[in-house]
Amino acid sequence: MKKIFLPVLSFIVFVLLSITGCKPKNAGDATGSDAASRVYVPPGKYDELYNFVSGGFSGQVSVYGIPSGRLLRVMPVFSVDPESGYGFSEETKPMLNTSHGQVPWGDQHHLELSQTNGEIDGRWLFANENNTPRIARIDLKTFRTAEIIEIPNSAGNHSSPFITENTEYVVAGTRFSVPMDDQNGDVPIDTYKKNFKGTISFISVDQKDGDMKLAFQLLLPGMDFDLSHSGKGPSSGWFFFSCYNSEQAHTLLEVNASKRDKDYILAVNWKKAEEYIKAGKGRKQTVKYAHNVLNESTHTATSTMETQTTILDVKDFPDIVYMIPCPKSPHGCDVDPTGQYIVGSGKLAALIPVFSFDKIQKAIAAKEFDGDYGGIPVIKYEAALHGEVKKPGLGPLHTEFDGKGNAYTTFFISSEIVKWSLNDLKVIDRHPTYYSPGHLMIPGGDTKNPYGKYLIAYNKITKDRYLPTGPELAQSAQLFDISGEKMKLLADYPSIGEPHYAQAAPASLISKNSTKIFKIEENQNAFVTMGEPKSKVVRNGNRVDVYMTMIRSHFSPDNIEGVKLGDDVYFHLTNLEQDWDVPHGFAVKGANTSELLVMPGDTQTLKWVPEVAGIYPFYCTDFCSALHQEMQGYLRVSPKGSNVPLSFSLGKNSDATDSLLTK
Ligand code: CUA
Repeated sequence: MKKIFLPVLSFIVFVLLSITGCKPKNAGDATGSDAASRVYVPPGKYDELYNFVSGGFSGQVSVYGIPSGRLLRVMPVFSVDPESGYGFSEETKPMLNTSHGQVPWGDQHHLELSQTNGEIDGRWLFANENNTPRIARIDLKTFRTAEIIEIPNSAGNHSSPFITENTEYVVAGTRFSVPMDDQNGDVPIDTYKKNFKGTISFISVDQKDGDMKLAFQLLLPGMDFDLSHSGKGPSSGWFFFSCYNSEQAHTLLEVNASKRDKDYILAVNWKKAEEYIKAGKGRKQTVKYAHNVLNESTHTATSTMETQTTILDVKDFPDIVYMIPCPKSPHGCDVDPTGQYIVGSGKLAALIPVFSFDKIQKAIAAKEFDGDYGGIPVIKYEAALHGEVKKPGLGPLHTEFDGKGNAYTTFFISSEIVKWSLNDLKVIDRHPTYYSPGHLMIPGGDTKNPYGKYLIAYNKITKDRYLPTGPELAQSAQLFDISGEKMKLLADYPSIGEPHYAQAAPASLISKNSTKIFKIEENQNAFVTMGEPKSKVVRNGNRVDVYMTMIRSHFSPDNIEGVKLGDDVYFHLTNLEQDWDVPHGFAVKGANTSELLVMPGDTQTLKWVPEVAGIYPFYCTDFCSALHQEMQGYLRVSPKGSNVPLSFSLGKNSDATDSLLTK
């Protein structure tokens, strides 16, 4: 015990020291005017690429332009957003519903753009949430979160939302193994080996409307699933997952889950699993998970609580999953553009193993196994291995590809990116990053057809790169030119939250479909007001519905009386504008929710419960015209039982304007 423990512990100490103590030698290298001109996008000009970046613990997804590094938008996905009213408006609240109730925050790590034939198609962006396991689909026409599905039997949804070549499935592997949802979870933690199980979920995607459905889940031995990537080309129909903690530790994992020399990469034959499911081999299990969908015509989300999942226990179906030993707690699990090579990156390894899909298939056919793990055949390491990249650096994490036979791997501990050849596994180039990169991204770098011009490193530590901002510094992105033999650092810029994985696509692929307005005549919101003359205020018991319109530069109505304490007021705001980029905002004094930011042709609803009688001003928050500051109104709240009649008006002014003027 001691023999294993001490070297591991000293290695961890070394790792920790490396993170905090080491600074690359040429950390101060200037990027030069040549580099500056290559990232300079003149005012009024568009960037070459959209870059979608995970927001980590912010729960959101940010959109940058590349090469400028300009932040274009932050899209609310898993966290409420008071700026837009996402998660606060009645229309969007259901998006954040879960089996645990309304969850206002998420931890967003990985993104995948939808693909057709292994290439980015510009339709949707998928995002995972770790903490309360969920997957979101963002519609790239509107840049709005269109759907969120919760994943049952899962905890810490990390190896997600990676997709198959034609977006048939989005996958989700559980980070934490846990007792299954239909079992009594009130068990001692030290019964891990008996009661805790892992799952990998396959969520099908409707090719027409993108609708997600939990198709099936694979039941696996208790361990931690980390990252994944789909096969392509020859490895089509397969999915690869890295896992750690094959030791099945449940405490002090930094030591106890680092004891074995190797963990595993799982090769999953999902086509085969699909056949078993179609043949009715799955076991139905009663569970509870939310499925939230935003309807494009009503602009309203609904949340449905689903009650069933279908499970395949892989030990009963030995030809679905195979395990490939992979050194030292593998993290990244990346498949090259040809679909032939699978790269595993052991967080504590000093080499990078590259597996060959052909060899894996041969090993399976010849049964070159080294026993099994929990009933799953373990392929002999050497039998699956294409080769090892020797001494590439310290702490390999993730690999992306340029489509020209080169791979690029981030090294967290030695704080660098290393370029190496898939063919002979020789290191070609290395470049320091500032500092300690986690993920990296080449546009299309995990597809069949990488864009191959830029590489972006997402760094965990910024230290001295930017002006100090108190104890916390932003994480950062660093843009490299990879068009030549040597990598060239072009620029760096801070990021929103902590960036993990990212995606990028040529701008035209996305911008050509971008929605500019919602057509008002197609607005089917239950509370839409189709034109100013239809605006009204309606009382029903203690519920008051305000059907209010917005157009430059007034609300209709803008004077409301007869609201009383004890009323629930619902402001239904319809933006009548039909021009691009003319949202109006709505804010009412004392509201303990958020503003509403209503897009042209859209309707959004804010619930408000006044607590004190008085006059409540409301106004537009978004500078919409020269008379934006005039876009305002008053609402009078009277005590309970008062006899002030309900009334509303626009433009019925009193005659007092001249009284202060002397002639
Ligand atoms: Cu409407 Cu400002």
